[in-house]
Amino acid sequence: MIFRQLFHAETSTYTYLLGSLATGEALLIDPVVEDVNKYLGLLEQLNLKLVRALDTHVHADHVTALGTLRERTGCETIMGLGPSTKAECATRHAEDGDDVGIPGIDLRALYTPGHTDDSYCYLMDDRVFTGDTLLIRGTGRTDFQNGDAHQQYNSLFEKLLTLPEDTLVYPGHDYKGFTMSTIGEEKRHNPRLQVHSVDEYVDIMEHLNLPSPKYMDVAVPANLTCGNLATAP
Ligand code: FE2
Repeated sequence: MIFRQLFHAETSTYTYLLGSLATGEALLIDPVVEDVNKYLGLLEQLNLKLVRALDTHVHADHVTALGTLRERTGCETIMGLGPSTKAECATRHAEDGDDVGIPGIDLRALYTPGHTDDSYCYLMDDRVFTGDTLLIRGTGRTDFQNGDAHQQYNSLFEKLLTLPEDTLVYPGHDYKGFTMSTIGEEKRHNPRLQVHSVDEYVDIMEHLNLPSPKYMDVAVPANLTCGNLATAP
């Protein structure tokens, strides 16, 4: 397997490229629209054909590259389905348990609402792509886009933290210079996970007092059309 972790510095976003040596096909997780040429150049250098691109949720801090990648490569675009999902531009919607991988790369959708109501993590055999559900030493905020701290607690404690402790954690963002972690490391050292009840977790999340993401007013409407600003509602 070919694996690359790519970083969009302006929004501290991680994008992941997974490629199969056997088939020469690849998929991208959480691509950023400004970096489309970078992705296409790298895919060409690695002799990979992009067949699928997926987002972990409708992002508020950057514009997705799903629509542009579909136009330029013909790849399939996948968004997870939530109760209020309006991102109808995706060619396919994933639900909990769906296989969203490509031949040679098994990837399973885990529905993990809380940061948003359409948040998904994607699980490979030894690693999990956690979007904004679980960050390194943090968790994604729950104060907009139908976020819900109760749901996030359940997604974390009943789903993600039940994975084997040596499962590698690859988040959707990092603001402190970390690149990866493990489930066991986060269980022990993530300050948000050192709680004893759902109420304690909700109390932490309700008192973060965070400013809105600077691109939110542009990014959310654009991402509901897979990043196509011209047709954003
Ligand atoms: Fe997010």
